[in-house]
Amino acid sequence: MRIVFFDSGVGGLTVLREASRKLPSESYLYYADTLNVPYGTHTKEEVYGFVEECIEDILRSHEVSAIIIACNTATSVAVDGLRKRYSFPIIGMEPAVKPALQSVRESGRRVLVTATPLTLKEDKFRRLLGKLEAPSQVDTLGLPGLVRFAEEGTFDGPDVLAYLREQFAPFELERYGAIVLGCTHFVFFQEAIRELLPPHVLVMDGNAGTVKQMMRVLELELEEDSANASPPDIVYMSSCGTKDDRIRLEHCFRSLT
Ligand code: DGL
Repeated sequence: MRIVFFDSGVGGLTVLREASRKLPSESYLYYADTLNVPYGTHTKEEVYGFVEECIEDILRSHEVSAIIIACNTATSVAVDGLRKRYSFPIIGMEPAVKPALQSVRESGRRVLVTATPLTLKEDKFRRLLGKLEAPSQVDTLGLPGLVRFAEEGTFDGPDVLAYLREQFAPFELERYGAIVLGCTHFVFFQEAIRELLPPHVLVMDGNAGTVKQMMRVLELELEEDSANASPPDIVYMSSCGTKDDRIRLEHCFRSLT
């Protein structure tokens, strides 16, 4: 039985890294939908179909104990339907808007939520904003270009910085207290993003919260001495099914640890 981490591409590896640091002796399976990445610029119906097809692909060859949808976009459109369809636990992600708003409570500064265009358009995100105390303090910004950079293996450098500068240009960044990385691919660009932000701006993502929720649902305890554990047992799969994909995913995961 493996714990599955699913994403359209390499983004979910950042969530798997968080899980495998806390629980290095678990067995994992990482699945990337390399046939259909990026999800963020597709329709909701298309993404739902992609995710279902990938889960069926996994189930043809593996027994799973849970699936972590390590993708905010796929969670927005598919998590409710998947929970009705499958009996194993399905854990989703959502942009860390709530903790971000808490962090700016005293300063009164604004929060900037970055995500894919589809996540920001979805009802799930609207509902999340609707539940907050101060939704008018939140602005949003779609950054689909970062997904393309990550899939090409470009995580820093002049092109990334130029893209981010252009996207941030309409915002008066001094007025913000926190920026939310509401797409798992964006976590790879934390350093580049920090470089462009005033030092008081916090950069927040939902990875730790998702892993905490996974541990709660699966009743797993933080492993002692996890820092000295041997490398985690991870099987890599992709919808293209090529060896090149598996090598690329493994290499990308290693670059994170
Ligand atoms: N990693 C994804 C997310 O968290 C999706 C990126 C994409 O495929 O557009 O939203």
